[in-house]
Amino acid sequence: MVLPVDRWYPAIFKRHSRRTYSAEVPEENKLARLDHVCREFRPFPEVRSELVRRSPETVFKGLVGHYGRVNGAPIYIAFIGKMSSPAVQEAAGYTGEGIILEATALALDTCWVGGFFRPEIVRSQIDIQEGEKVLSVTPVGYTPAEKTRQEKIMSRLVKSRLRKPLAKLVGGEIAAPWMEKALEAARLAPSAQNRQPWRFRVEKDAVVIAVDKSFSTSSISKRLDCGIAMLHFELGALAAGVVGKWEILRSPDVARFVL
Ligand SMILES: Cc1cc2nc3c(=O)[nH]c(=O)nc-3n(C[C@H](O)[C@H](O)[C@H](O)COP(=O)(O)O)c2cc1C
Repeated sequence: MVLPVDRWYPAIFKRHSRRTYSAEVPEENKLARLDHVCREFRPFPEVRSELVRRSPETVFKGLVGHYGRVNGAPIYIAFIGKMSSPAVQEAAGYTGEGIILEATALALDTCWVGGFFRPEIVRSQIDIQEGEKVLSVTPVGYTPAEKTRQEKIMSRLVKSRLRKPLAKLVGGEIAAPWMEKALEAARLAPSAQNRQPWRFRVEKDAVVIAVDKSFSTSSISKRLDCGIAMLHFELGALAAGVVGKWEILRSPDVARFVL
């Protein structure tokens, strides 16, 4: 599937994690579109997305009012990876964020949930093959325009609106306006606990994304977060008229974007 940059690039600036939902089930045409994109957007064969038309109420863990607790969503999407692939984490981030941005473009709310869910319940609600793992899920639905008090407390806890400046994320000189646009889109990517573990190195005609060296209490792979930032970067580049592709690299590097 060709990246629908006209839909997904603007969605980068509209998306925010939401954790309290109304019971209203999204319209059938929106669900059909999401289902279609889940099937079609498979840039990496080792990762797939499945729309589950059931309430995820028993899927989410945690106490009501605590980080990670999602309430009331009518449906959810599971991101599933084949763990034999060394690139499964970045592939899951890249693929999942495409689905999340499509939901955003459909005016639906979402929240990446990587830690506080019960994979065994998800496995009982979907077809899962040997060697596959549910890496993350997102609720999908409508939320009140104003965040609830509990949501505000949670957002404040992880400082979810804050992002590191490009000066802290990028090594080397930002050589062209397209690169700045791409890096700015990557900077806005969501990450587990908002840790923003991506670092960029500008090379001649290429940009490398790598994971930072900071300690993280989260069990979620930093490479998954980087996969999300990779999609944002590529959408920013495309929005500036520049076409490139990611080549996967070995740790601590994640990938190189070449024109
Ligand atoms: C891979 C991943 C896993 C996440 N896991 C959780 C989670 O388990 N619980 C939760 O409440 N939020 C989770 N989040 C949401 C982040 O806290 C959120 O994206 C971050 O604070 C930035 O806020 P924003 O999404 O509103 O921009 C996760 C985000 C990502 C990308």
